[in-house]
Formats: sequence, C-alpha cells, structure tokens
Amino acid sequence: MSEEENEHTWKESSVSCQNAHICINNLTKVFKRDNTETVVLNNFSLDIKKGELITLVGPSGSGKTTILRLIAGLIEPTSGEVSINGKPCTAPGADRGMVFQDFALFPWRSVRKNVEFGLEVAGVPKEERRERAEKYITLAGLENFIDARIHELSGGMKQRVGIARALVGHPDVILMDEPFGSLDAQTRNIMQVQLLKILEKTDQTIIFVTHSVDEAVFLSDRIVVLTKRPASIKEIIEIPWPRPRDRADPEFSALRKMILSELEKENVMEN
Ligand SMILES: Nc1ncnc2c1ncn2[C@@H]1O[C@H](COP(=O)(O)OP(=O)(O)O)[C@@H](O)[C@H]1O
Ligand SMILES: [Mg+2]
Repeated sequence: MSEEENEHTWKESSVSCQNAHICINNLTKVFKRDNTETVVLNNFSLDIKKGELITLVGPSGSGKTTILRLIAGLIEPTSGEVSINGKPCTAPGADRGMVFQDFALFPWRSVRKNVEFGLEVAGVPKEERRERAEKYITLAGLENFIDARIHELSGGMKQRVGIARALVGHPDVILMDEPFGSLDAQTRNIMQVQLLKILEKTDQTIIFVTHSVDEAVFLSDRIVVLTKRPASIKEIIEIPWPRPRDRADPEFSALRKMILSELEKENVMEN
C-alpha cells in the first residue's frame, strides 16, 4: 500500500473514533504463558454510543471478560486502543465504573459506606458524598437499608449496592461482567427489571456481558454476538422494541432462538 493510501485509511478510522463515545479500535490481546501464546482478541473494533446498553454474548472463553478488563484499563492491550470521548484509556479511572458478579463489596461496611467508598478515595467532601450516596441508594430502592451491613443483605440487594456504587461516581460507562450470574432465576429477572428502572432515570452508558441470551434480549439496545476465541463480531443486532419487553411475545422468542442457534454453531467442537 502506498503511503498516501495508508494515511487515508488511518484518517478514516481515526474520524470514526473521534465521533464515538467509546471506541474500541483494532484491539489485539495475546496472553503468553510458558511457551504458549493465546490470542484472545485479534483486531477487535466496536463503537459504543452515549447512553446505550450494549451487551456482549459469546461462547465461554471467547474473550468477553478480557474485553471489559481492557476497557477498564486493568490489563494492557498487545496492540490497538480503547478511547472514551477521544481520550485513550491506558489505566483504570473514575470515568469507568465496574459491577462484578461476586459483588466485590466490603462486607463489614454499611450500604452507605460501600456506596461512598469511591467518592471518599477521590476526596469528595463529606456532605456531597452523603447526598450523592443517598440519591443512588434511593434509586436502587435500598433507602430502608442504608445503614445495614452488607452481610445482612440478600444477593439481589448486594448487587443493587454494587450498581449504586458504580452510578454514584458518574462514570462515562459502567462495565458489568455477568452481574446477575450468581443469582437465582427469579431474583435475576427482578434485577433486570430494576436495572432498567434505574437506567430510565439516568443517561448511563452500559457495556454488559452475559451468558444469558434471554437477559440480553430483555435488556439491550444492541447485542454483539461474538465468535469463539479469538473473539470477533459475528453479528450486531439492534433491538428497537420499547421496554419493558414481554418474554412471551413471539418476536422476543424468535430473536432469542436465532441468537442461540448462532451461538450453538460457535460451540461446535473442532476436529
Ligand atoms: N491472565 C491470563 N493469562 C492467560 N490466559 C488468559 C488470561 N486471562 C484470560 N485468559 C484466557 O483468555 C481466554 C478468554 O478468557 P475470558 O476473557 O475470561 O473469556 P470469557 O469471559 O468470554 O469467558 C480464555 O481462554 C482464558 O483462558
Ligand atoms: Mg468472563
């Protein structure tokens, strides 16, 4: 390729990144252990719009958690980059909140103290900390448990504390890695409805990873279906339906089945 063509290509990809809220650009990640190399991502690119709830679904081990950890700045890419509002993410920062499957809360602290923790670290004054924590604890429906200790709460309540803790820092994006994966089926469905209620009142961008196609269809503005490792995009599905969505709707079931059959093809064992 001539230098001129090269420059043109570079400019095009750089422009699309400047307009995107979050831009994942040609991300490659190779893990090296002993003498083996595992290519988890190979030139993976994705643009994420402000305020959207985008879900990654893909076979186990395809690289979903790795994508979130790269966006979080917890690990370094082998090549490529992630940027938010045009600013490269090379280290963890308050512009990215995380919600984990195992909650990662301080069990001995109260709900209030858990939600305030990040603000405390950031040096936010006490009064403002209290006000902001109370706002998001109320939004998460936990106002009657504000002084309860974490170990006194059910799994669903713990995860609502995790969501309030992520929202309170006003991050550009919240990364959620199978946040409802450890909850029983009924609690999980309740949590999905509650998450949507909380999001109605914010303009929060969410990148959500799940094993559950049903959860993805229920929640998402867009679903990114990934191939097996190295993860590449098999399909991106926009869901225009209003929320709350009806799981009994034939269109809902048809979309769920279609995505499941795409994923089953990815899970076929190689000879
Ligand atoms: N720190 C690491 N060192 C070596 N290999 C890793 C590391 N982290 C993840 N992997 C490998 O990368 C692949 C993708 O992992 P992961 O992103 O956790 O997948 P997923 O979340 O989609 O199930 C797996 O094969 C896993 O073994
Ligand atoms: Mg994972």
